[in-house]
Amino acid sequence: MRSIQDPHHDRILILDFGAQYTQLIGRAVRELGVYCEIYPWDVDHEAIEEFGPKGVILSGGPASAYEEGTPAAPEPLFTGGLPILGICYGMQTLVAQLGGSVENADHREYGHADMETVRSCKLLGAAGRTLDVWMSHGDRVTALPKGFEVVATSPGSPYAAIADDRRRFYGVQFHPEVTHTAEGRDILSRFVHEICACAADWVPANIIQSIVADVRGAVGDDEVILGLSGGVDSSVVAALLHEAIGDQLTCIFVDTGLLRMHEGDQVMQTFEEHLGVHVERVDAEAEFLARLSGVRDPEAKRKAIGNLFVEIFEREAARFSDARWLAQGTIYPDVIESAGSKHGKAKVIKSHHNVGGLPAAMNLRLLEPLRELFKDEVRRIGIDIGLPERMVQRHPFPGPGLGVRILGEVKKEYADLLRKADAIFLEELERNGLYDRVSQAFAVFLPVRSVGVVGDNRAYEFVIALRAVETVDFMTANWARLPYDVLATISGRIINEVRGISRVTYDISEKPPATIEWE
Ligand code: XMP
Repeated sequence: MRSIQDPHHDRILILDFGAQYTQLIGRAVRELGVYCEIYPWDVDHEAIEEFGPKGVILSGGPASAYEEGTPAAPEPLFTGGLPILGICYGMQTLVAQLGGSVENADHREYGHADMETVRSCKLLGAAGRTLDVWMSHGDRVTALPKGFEVVATSPGSPYAAIADDRRRFYGVQFHPEVTHTAEGRDILSRFVHEICACAADWVPANIIQSIVADVRGAVGDDEVILGLSGGVDSSVVAALLHEAIGDQLTCIFVDTGLLRMHEGDQVMQTFEEHLGVHVERVDAEAEFLARLSGVRDPEAKRKAIGNLFVEIFEREAARFSDARWLAQGTIYPDVIESAGSKHGKAKVIKSHHNVGGLPAAMNLRLLEPLRELFKDEVRRIGIDIGLPERMVQRHPFPGPGLGVRILGEVKKEYADLLRKADAIFLEELERNGLYDRVSQAFAVFLPVRSVGVVGDNRAYEFVIALRAVETVDFMTANWARLPYDVLATISGRIINEVRGISRVTYDISEKPPATIEWE
């Protein structure tokens, strides 16, 4: 599906110069109720015109604006009459392109700074105020282009914010998109709502409405199939498509036998019984266990699980020969990460290794109704459309499921023990109000035997490791400092209630170098 081209939504364009914070700008603007998209800085100007923004934000980036051949904004932007806000590198390139100058600062300015507004402007409001802002830059502006004025200064940045109210061009050296900047949201709000005059209409009810209308328009009377996994994204797709096209949707839910406790039944309950979605459940546990028998290498296990998943999905989907569309839960960060700039260095791409790149050979058209949404938006519309809060706020779960949480060979006995231990862990986190405070928590099964005393005898039984992490982007993570007494309760319950486990350990490895999963 193309972008949401609904003319009723005012929109902002964000040009990405490669900063790690660019997605945060996008999320902040969306949270302010304004639709936006992120394009690489070297996108063709025609694409910008077709998108039809009411204002443009130039993101930060790692380059230096005074170097030859450095990334720059498309020149027609400066004569097109649209408001522009340059952030960090975005401000520097704005200045350099309009005839001012930028130089390397003696030292990098990083962290909090007290910024003084020295002249009133539409972006920052009145003069004479002190704002707590977040800086992160090595270059700085040293002379302004014609028409600009300095509107704020900080001890390290004489040009902390600049404005040309007449052309509605603004530049800020600090980062309004990060939460460390106290009034960051207000500043962005003034830019998008007041300066660009965008309405705050990008809210869940409207998002749902516009996706539903788009899907109906694209699909017509065709039948659609969707691989439902029980994860947040595919669940929200199922609920949206059900709303849009009702019985034309069939979900295929492959129960791999590598899911968490009661997960398969919960998926059926939520979708079939509660929402009335048509779900075909495929009980494939035996097939997965057979395929995994004797496979010990983690990547070989991932491949085996992914391939079998696709085989089964294709087999089941073939039964619905009238289907013309395959729906998928692709979300916006996946789209941005795979797009990137034509000139730029390869960006760090989040390795997302979902189960099976689904079937190219299936001859179905692809329907991706979440392609424009950030994860937090997916969650918000999930709740708005009636999915249970618990399902929508769930921790991520890897495609290969328990297959990569049982070290080495996967056996049914191991999966059953692991499911029980994992369920106790999660239940206690919930009970103690900790589930939502960690980003991901799970148990891992270690197929080694450790000694324990059962009654008067020594017994050699298996070991469970508990892993709980706090992270923003899953690229780096800290182990969660869970309270000792909660850990004590969890370990006591697992050892007493799960026959076959005699020892529980807690994983205190940070990522990097350790990964979140154990395989
Ligand atoms: P790592 O272990 O790489 O995990 O630190 C980062 C995030 O990715 C998830 N993960 C996977 N997700 N298939 C997936 O769909 C996989 O093979 C896979 N391996 C790791 C992991 O759960 C964490 O959220």
